[in-house]
Amino acid sequence: MDFEDIDTVAVLGAGNMGHGITEVAALAGYDVRMRDIEDEFVQDGYDSIEWSLDKLAEKDQITEEEAEAALDRVTPLVDLEEAVGDADVVVEAVPEKMEIKKDVYTDVEEHAPDEAIFATNTSSLSITELSEVTERPEQFCGMHFFNPPVRMQLVEVISGAHTSDETLDAVEELAEAFGKTPVRVRKDSPGFIVNRIAVPQMNEAAWLVSEDEATIAEVDATTKHDMGLPMGAFELSDYVGLDVSFDVLEYVNGELGRAYEPCPLLREKVEAEEFGTKSGKGFYDYD
Ligand code: CAA
Repeated sequence: MDFEDIDTVAVLGAGNMGHGITEVAALAGYDVRMRDIEDEFVQDGYDSIEWSLDKLAEKDQITEEEAEAALDRVTPLVDLEEAVGDADVVVEAVPEKMEIKKDVYTDVEEHAPDEAIFATNTSSLSITELSEVTERPEQFCGMHFFNPPVRMQLVEVISGAHTSDETLDAVEELAEAFGKTPVRVRKDSPGFIVNRIAVPQMNEAAWLVSEDEATIAEVDATTKHDMGLPMGAFELSDYVGLDVSFDVLEYVNGELGRAYEPCPLLREKVEAEEFGTKSGKGFYDYD
């Protein structure tokens, strides 16, 4: 599939990343089918897109007409066949678990057109391993956005062992058409580039606090003001979702070893379903 032939995008998953990617693609003029497994999840994702488009219009970053037109291009769906049946590119943003993603690809393979590209928004998992559950590993790559996709410029475009240059070129051009800056990641290594660096930083922040070496406020003040980052380490963990960072850490730790061992404080939070902003409580309260 060449970039010029891409008209219709399917996004699987309507969570933070899925609805954000849908919004970006719709703003760029693509027809997007956004699919999740329950009506409630799809509706929440759709409402979030509407909220975000309104905010952008309120701030004159887009016109009200552009906001309306983008929303009109989004079709929220639960039916998988309808979602991917005429897709040129399927961007998958389902939970960061190897088995869940593999099951999704097995189902998607049945319904997507043979020529469609599969692009996974995984934050860390092996592109090669995921691609091998499909019959089109050469049309499979990583397309990793950052939260919130509508505001973050970078997209990691990751090659698996079997990915063709044609697929990588098409996905890079698509990222550019979305108004993003793609960076090609040559090697399919756990966590790619950004999360090899960013997620251990969030983990070390948790170790510092759990070993009583610093408070959350001290760590956030330092990372935000002294290191010049837009959010403190704990604010960012909450924003990304502790469940997501935890899954990435566990996977990278399993692949690369002890340096990435998840801090027990993160485990406790995830077990208590304190995922951050999305659940109303993480390291901070959001009620
Ligand atoms: N759509 C539209 N508007 C939005 C928005 C969105 N998605 N998100 C925030 N806004 C709005 C806010 O509501 C706010 O509006 P009001 O002024 O009306 O209240 C406005 O934008 C300004 O927001 P803020 O003042 O809070 O902050 P900001 O403009 O300075 O930046 C930010 C917000 C871009 C999120 C910034 O804090 C930031 O860059 N944070 C770091 C994000 C980051 O590092 N993300 C990557 C995480 S790693 C990841 O995602 C990958 C992974 O694999 C785990």
